[in-house]
Amino acid sequence: MPTIYHDISALRAALQPYRGQKNSQSGGLQRIALVPTMGNLHDGHLELVRIAKRHADVVVVSIFVNPTQFGVGEDFDSYPRTLDKDIAKLATVDADYVFAPSIDEMYPVLPPPTSVLAGDIAAQLCGQSRPGHFDGVGIVVSKLFNIVQPDVAVFGQKDYQQLAIIKQLVRDLSYSIEIIGAPIVRADDGLALSSRNQYLNATERQIAPVLHQELQRLAHRLKSDELSWQQTESLLAETYTRITNAGFTIDYLEIKTDELGSIVNYSASLNTEKFNIERKDLIILVAAWLGRARLLDNQLVTVNQPS
Ligand code: PAF
Repeated sequence: MPTIYHDISALRAALQPYRGQKNSQSGGLQRIALVPTMGNLHDGHLELVRIAKRHADVVVVSIFVNPTQFGVGEDFDSYPRTLDKDIAKLATVDADYVFAPSIDEMYPVLPPPTSVLAGDIAAQLCGQSRPGHFDGVGIVVSKLFNIVQPDVAVFGQKDYQQLAIIKQLVRDLSYSIEIIGAPIVRADDGLALSSRNQYLNATERQIAPVLHQELQRLAHRLKSDELSWQQTESLLAETYTRITNAGFTIDYLEIKTDELGSIVNYSASLNTEKFNIERKDLIILVAAWLGRARLLDNQLVTVNQPS
């Protein structure tokens, strides 16, 4: 069973002996990994822990439903809190420590007067429909990094924009932490695993894999066809309609460069200048509501430059 800590000072004391110690087998220094979560763990989270174990000697999993990343009217109050079950699941993957602080422990003053702003990258995609969300992620992840002081931290690629923002945070605040993006874990029918999938009723759960299927279909077309900008744009519009017809309300469906920096938004004004190399790694990103659940998914694709 992992050891559980609710206090910052107790966790720090428990981790102190690992710092600067040699790993007897490799001869290198022992490494600490952090897997930040909001709990209600599923196989996707457990895979993050497995990956962390391969990169470190000791793995800390944080479980904290972070109030600063939820907007007014969002599901902060109803977000599932299942600490005992989470701890039992973490025992099956040999997590060493669980850090499950209270809100007071994390935020002596709420909202905190100090902020970590995520900047332009946070203004797009999820940041547009969830203003302030990534600033909340930024501050809690910075605090977790300072509390745990890990050598490596593992985040899921399902939250692709969040991962990009965390890489930016590590760069800009000079954290000496290796960030690992873990591949999306899916159910057998292709639905990306998410704690929010449990908001789906039985009928919605049947429909939900359509999101992944449509992204795959679009990626396949983008990859296999020599498409003009216009064709690409209409293909995106067709995907939009197909997802909508399946019963989703789309928040966004966009194709961007894989860094999310230079934006290629086929559905708005086309920007060919930023897209001037022969082959390009792109990412298709979607957020869509199905009943009470807001589902995220994405698909990387390498395409020939549209002509
Ligand atoms: O991805 C999540 O579960 C959360 O956004 C994170 C990174 C744990 C911060 O609260």
